Amino acid sequence: MSTMSDQLLLLLSGPNLNLLGERQPDVYGTQSLDDHVESARVAASARGLTLEHVQSNHEGVLVDAIHAARGRCAGIVVNPGAFTHYAWAIHDALAAFEGPVVELHLSNPAAREPWRHTSVVAPVASGTIAGFGGAGYPMAVEAVADLLEA
Ligand code: DQA
Repeated sequence: MSTMSDQLLLLLSGPNLNLLGERQPDVYGTQSLDDHVESARVAASARGLTLEHVQSNHEGVLVDAIHAARGRCAGIVVNPGAFTHYAWAIHDALAAFEGPVVELHLSNPAAREPWRHTSVVAPVASGTIAGFGGAGYPMAVEAVADLLEA
């Protein structure tokens, strides 16, 4: 029988997020991606979920990771970086994923440049967490865990 402790949660990080901590710290903060992954991992473990993390600067690698999650991972938290705003292949891959998807951003794209106001991921996500900096990582994990338990 499958229990929550068997369940995998995929955290996906898009382009340039490998530079967190060095990249525009006024916008994205001073914590590294490893710091965020660790806080997501702690939150996941507290909810009986095992976190897997994939970061890539390449759209196809993220699409492949979403495909590999089908039938294997219970949910996905995705910060697609700039792919948020135009990567329809990521939209389509997420649409083919059966579990809950939470879109996550450190900044609040809706309060930034107009080109960031469109998300092609939002229509295939259960919801979006944006603008809370690193605190958003455990929030997004909690949101997926709640959806899995609902
Ligand atoms: C981001 C917001 C995107 O607009 C941007 O391109 C990023 C990071 C965020 O986490 O705030 O790379 O996804």
